[in-house]
Amino acid sequence: MSRSLTGVVGSILLVVACADADAKPGFRQSAFGKTADGAAVDLYTLTNSNGMVARITNFGGIVVALETPDRDGKTADVVLGFDALDAYLKSNPYFGCIVGRYGNRIAGGRFTLDGKAYTLARNNGANHLHGGVKGFDKVVWNAKPRSDANGVALELNYLSKDGEEGYPGNLAVTVTYTLTDDNELRIDYLATTDKPTVVNLTHHGYFNLDGAGAGDILDHVLMIKASRFTPVDKGLIPTSELRDVKDTPMDFTKPAAIGARIDAQDEQIAFGPGYDHNWALDRESDDLSLAARLVSPKTGRVMEVLTTEPGVQFYSGNFLDGTLTGKNGKMYGKRAGLCLETQHFPDSPNQPSFPSTVLRPDGKYKSTTVYKFSVLKP
Ligand code: BGC
Repeated sequence: MSRSLTGVVGSILLVVACADADAKPGFRQSAFGKTADGAAVDLYTLTNSNGMVARITNFGGIVVALETPDRDGKTADVVLGFDALDAYLKSNPYFGCIVGRYGNRIAGGRFTLDGKAYTLARNNGANHLHGGVKGFDKVVWNAKPRSDANGVALELNYLSKDGEEGYPGNLAVTVTYTLTDDNELRIDYLATTDKPTVVNLTHHGYFNLDGAGAGDILDHVLMIKASRFTPVDKGLIPTSELRDVKDTPMDFTKPAAIGARIDAQDEQIAFGPGYDHNWALDRESDDLSLAARLVSPKTGRVMEVLTTEPGVQFYSGNFLDGTLTGKNGKMYGKRAGLCLETQHFPDSPNQPSFPSTVLRPDGKYKSTTVYKFSVLKP
């Protein structure tokens, strides 16, 4: 039996086995299409005991949909994305994916490690962005569903070969998405290497707590637990400075509407078309702790971001321009969604003062981020 036919028959059997699969806690697998080189890709539907749903594909580890209730119990899909695999293959501004080997930019697409110079793919002007031309967002991962005491989970595995996009070392990566019964989407990252390399993995979900395609995110209220950020140059490369957010539009230590100061031009901050910066989180330890809190006053949805990472890239969807049609035919205009990408700082391989992103064969890369959903109490 062909791979796709097996997939289709498998999904029919699974659907028959639990007739109302989406409403019941558990797991469902269905075919999602094929990549240009013929690899079959699936869509995995995870449902928790509250009826919250996450749909994840093993192409790029993309969270295609995330359905959560508002304050009246009305469910909406709160992440931007496409209905079909073809659209993800054509032109995807990193909607919902796993980013790797290195989240955000590496200046000039080069770095030196242990005295050896490495040249990476340059896919963002002169710089390297989000792992290169074919980053972890564009590869097919091996997927293993499982369920444990915390909820339903999807384990994704990928072996990034020595030299891929210019990086040294075979990197074995495991990313596990867990949809918990506390309405959390938890992401656990693990990686090991056989040669010294650099690693910085993140998730690139574009969130809109009013629902994907329901307008822009300017009225969302954001708190970022960070009293410093990393200013950037015109190419969005950090200047090495850690600057106080105080008295700048970057101050989200107290909750503020995203639109309130987004257009405040400040040459010093090289502000450009909106927020697209790394905040250095105020942390007491490397344990999982609160990094950001996002609230939609309109629908009462709340999303908290917890992480073990030292930074978060708040990107306000500035480069969306209405040319992409998303799920259910909805158009995604400028700032239709925002990303809160937990990470080590951009360009760390070239910035000795930043926390290190070096992974060695005797070490283990370990990172956890949780997106936790709830609603404002009346
Ligand atoms: C970056 C942006 C980039 C976007 C790509 C963000 O993580 O910070 O500069 O344009 O990803 O969609």
